[in-house]
Amino acid sequence: GIKSIILAGGSGTRLWPLSREMYPKQFLKFGETSLFQETVLRCFEVSDISEIFVVTNEAQKFFVIGQIKEIGYSIPPENVLIEPEGKNTLPAIFFGMKEIEKKFGNSIVGIFSSDHVLDRAAMVTISSAEKLASDYLVTFGVVPTSPHTGYGYIKASESCEPGYRVSEFREKPSFETAQKYIEEGCLWNSGMFLFETRLFFEEVKKHAPSVFACFEKGGSINEIYACVDKVSIDYGIMEKSDRVAVVKLEQKWSDLGNFEAIYDELEKDSVGNVIHECDPMLLNSDGNLVYSKCGKIVSLIDVKDMVIVDTSDALLICPKSSSQRVKEIVSDLKGRN
Ligand code: GDD
Ligand code: MG
Repeated sequence: GIKSIILAGGSGTRLWPLSREMYPKQFLKFGETSLFQETVLRCFEVSDISEIFVVTNEAQKFFVIGQIKEIGYSIPPENVLIEPEGKNTLPAIFFGMKEIEKKFGNSIVGIFSSDHVLDRAAMVTISSAEKLASDYLVTFGVVPTSPHTGYGYIKASESCEPGYRVSEFREKPSFETAQKYIEEGCLWNSGMFLFETRLFFEEVKKHAPSVFACFEKGGSINEIYACVDKVSIDYGIMEKSDRVAVVKLEQKWSDLGNFEAIYDELEKDSVGNVIHECDPMLLNSDGNLVYSKCGKIVSLIDVKDMVIVDTSDALLICPKSSSQRVKEIVSDLKGRN
């Protein structure tokens, strides 16, 4: 069947201070399971555990193995791929594709981000695209809800069942361009892909020859990673290739990219507050996301539509609508260290 690559190497800087480099959002639990665990459970719809590869790093390896154990499986050690450093998604996917080819030969591979909310039923759509994956780099498109600048935009052209050929793929456009794409009926890139190994290697060789050359030259993974550029699959391949197809995802999909998206996703009390871990004292306060640890009393009076995240060494307060800007704080913090 289909093999799976789960990408679990990013740090989710827009959820600071909840997610840190050491504990990124895919491992945070919202309810019983984490987004990473849900991703693994979704992969079981198309792959068995020996066919699932996780590309991660040394710091997150124990979360990967531990959280898979928690849901009752044990992943073969050779399927946990450790990157010496994050070089963004193109090298990470290449690493996974190479190991899959080594173990199984030419294969059709689903690429999954570990930080999305998605119904398990969506995997039927993923499988349905299998027949396209030898001829096309298959993307999965979602109907946009706003001119969000953090996503890839996909313009579909003629039909190729069960999807469409793609005439344009544009990663993270400006706000104005995103508005134009929405008017033209473009879809958002969900960040999941279905690639045949053979076609993927061909397209990387053509459009990102320097990345291809680093892997081709071989050597240890440290040597390969010292050689490759930092580049995402979206900028490196999807924007450039003329062999891209898109299949529409009908299921509800969300990239929990910021606190506002998390707020939208979680269960609210009767006045629309999302409360996590410990109950704050609330007077006339609604529409808030409040995360606090027990052991400290948090109280709000006349507070509306705010995000309040209180951890032991950091406190974030911002209007929900400014959640997208949390990454600016994180990059300032990085500059200070
Ligand atoms: N192993 C590894 N190494 N994983 C990585 C690395 C890395 O260096 N960098 C990112 N990832 C993982 C992240 O953890 C996430 O699961 C996934 O790859 C996507 O990376 P993001 O950094 O979250 O990408 P994005 O959100 O900016 O954009 C992508 O996803 C959007 C949808 O959520 C693009 O594919 C967009 O086109 C798309 O719309
Ligand atoms: Mg993302």
